[in-house]
Amino acid sequence: MLEYVKDILVEAKENNYAVGAFNTTNLETTQAILEAAQEKKSPVIIQVTEKTMDYAGGRNIFQIIKNTAEYYYPEIPVGIHLDHGKSFEVIQRAIEIGFTSVMYDGSRGKYEDNLMTTKRISEYCHKKNINIQAELGNVPYLKEVGIIDVDWDKYMTDPEQAEKFVTETSIDALAVAVGNAHGFAKERSKPDYERLDNISKRLDVPLIMHGASDWEEEKVRNAIERGISCFNVDTASRVAFITSLVKTISETKELSYDIRTHLGKARKAIKETVMHKMDIFKSAGKIK
Ligand code: G3H
Ligand code: 13P
Ligand code: ZN
Repeated sequence: MLEYVKDILVEAKENNYAVGAFNTTNLETTQAILEAAQEKKSPVIIQVTEKTMDYAGGRNIFQIIKNTAEYYYPEIPVGIHLDHGKSFEVIQRAIEIGFTSVMYDGSRGKYEDNLMTTKRISEYCHKKNINIQAELGNVPYLKEVGIIDVDWDKYMTDPEQAEKFVTETSIDALAVAVGNAHGFAKERSKPDYERLDNISKRLDVPLIMHGASDWEEEKVRNAIERGISCFNVDTASRVAFITSLVKTISETKELSYDIRTHLGKARKAIKETVMHKMDIFKSAGKIK
């Protein structure tokens, strides 16, 4: 059953667990996420980026998620979300396609620009009954920081600024930077839990942790205790998929040319990864 992302997040926040927001690029990844959600009886958010909309076709990928969720998994609360929308245009396009939740990511610009544009997009979204997430501070990517140690102070969310930002923009959820990093970028040796505590004490909106592929049990538990209601996961699923493909293709003596053989195994690998995340996020078993 399709639900508003905001409702899924608020439910998690009120009940002290977190939900996973898993990126998809295709049919197999979407099916794997939903199969995992069914097996774990977990609510779930499925999200796509601009790059995926360009790759798959925005309408195609949206309909794949919607149709698979509604037709094959009607009992699972599923939120469909645009991840890291970088412009007003892409957000308008996503809403026109049917997305009811979007992220506007203006985190790379100046604070004032991020504030102004987020506010404008938030007003636009709320008039149309669309949920909006924004980011303050930077959750870096490998291509931005390389493999060197990062000067984390430059990337962190400022708690006081976050309070002002959320009040002025009326966003529904905030992505925070507390030493977390996207993909293969090196994270801070320890997340800044004190900062996270401080942010969550000042805000009522659900907080989102991007770059959570490599977040395991202890860090996840600490983050949930300090107000995180959602972890974004992409790289872990992609690694599971590609590793499975490489393995099945290179290890097979007589190579099968049935696409379904290879993609089916890769789909299963993602499913296992997602199920593990649902366990540690504590969203498993939360469907009433
Ligand atoms: O943060 C979001 C994704 O991990 C980046 O994925 O390559 O689809 O933009 P992308
Ligand atoms: P990872 O690729 O590090 O899991 O990050 C995903 C993410 O933040 C998507 O928005
Ligand atoms: Zn992200």
